Parts: sequence; structure tokens; C-alpha cells
Amino acid sequence: MDAFELNKIIGWVLAALLVIFGARTFMDIYNGGHGDNKGEKAAYIIEVEDSAPKADKSEKKKVESVDIKTLLASANAESGEKVAKKCKACHTFEKGGKNKAGPALYGIVNRNLGTVEGYSYSDALKAKGGAWDYDALIGFLKAPKTYIPGTIMSFSGVRNDQKLADLIVYLRSLSDNPAELP
Ligand code: HEC
Repeated sequence: MDAFELNKIIGWVLAALLVIFGARTFMDIYNGGHGDNKGEKAAYIIEVEDSAPKADKSEKKKVESVDIKTLLASANAESGEKVAKKCKACHTFEKGGKNKAGPALYGIVNRNLGTVEGYSYSDALKAKGGAWDYDALIGFLKAPKTYIPGTIMSFSGVRNDQKLADLIVYLRSLSDNPAELP
């Protein structure tokens, strides 16, 4: 076998390898493409899963105040007092406390809305009417401006349910005769 023939053989071997690897690479690309398609399918499935929690959320909204009411049973007034620090810029909590930017809050649970002597409430709050029962306090303190659009209380609300429950049992304790828990 001369050198020329050897070269020819090596040439064929290389060509064969090229075909094999080329084909594999092509397969990989093809599979990759196929995989991407699968990915798209998966993304679609995720979308479907996504819409499920959304439905859950609206469910949750409906039962939210009930959930917080349940939390009230085990809520902690001492932690609530810490949450209430946020309110102290505008409210007093002690018996006989004065009105500040906001009305005095001693005895707030079950008191009628907008009835602290000498405090001028917004028309929105006066128009709302009713009493500060647990539902009203939960609704208002979670999102004041959503619960009473037009309120002059510039406070964004207590978003954390546990903190809100703690705060409300603290407010409940500010009374000569604390209201019953729900
Ligand atoms: C930036 C000042 C400010 C902060 C902070 C604030 N409030 Fe108020 N609050 C007000 C004002 C002003 C009003 C009167 C709202 C109106 O008339 O629309 C009010 C009204 C209220 C009322 C209704 C009282 C009534 O007699 O009807 C409650 C209850 C209340 N606030 C609770 C709280 C609690 C609890 C916090 C803390 C988590 C808090 N507020 C934080 C300013 C504030």
C-alpha cells in the first residue's frame, strides 16, 4: 500500500466520521428544536396553572375577613401594641386621650363611626355610617382608602393578616369592657 492509497483511506475514514458526526449534530439540533417545542407546551401548561391560583385569590378575597377573624382568636395584643406604633403619629390610645390629626381611639371597637366629640371627620367617613365592629375594622385598617374612598386618614393599611389581627385585639383591649371576640 503506497502513501497515496493510505491517504485515500484516511480521507474516506474522515469523510465517514464527518457524515456520522454531522448527522448527530443535525439530530441534536433537531431534538433541540423539538425540545423547544416541548418548552412552549410547558409554558402553556404553566399559564394554565397560573390561572388556577388567580381563581384561588378571588376565592380568598371573599373569605379574607373571615380568615382574619379566625386569627383574632389566637392573636397577641402585645404584638398588636407594637403594630399600633404606626398609628401614634395621628392617634392616642389611652383613656381620655386627645384627638390629634386623627380621632382618639380608646374604646374604638363597636363604637359608631365618626362619633368622637370635637373631631371633624371627612364627609366620606360620616356618610359610611355603622359601627366599628371587627369586619369594619379589618376592612378599614387593611386598606383605608379602599374601604372608605375619600377618607382623610393617610395611612396605607396593615397588609399582614397576622399583624392586623394582633392590632385589632390590641384595639379591643383599649376598653373598660372589651367586646367579645368573634
Ligand atoms: C397619618 C395619620 C394617621 C395614621 C398614621 C393613622 N390614622 Fe387613623 N385616622 C386618621 C384620620 C385623619 C382619621 C379620620 C378619617 C376621616 O375622617 O376620614 C382617622 C380615622 C381612624 C379611625 C376611625 C375613627 C372613628 O372615630 O370613626 C380608626 C378606627 C383609625 N383611624 C384607626 C387607625 C389605626 C389603628 C392606625 C394605625 C394602624 C391609624 N388609624 C393610623 C389619621 C391617621
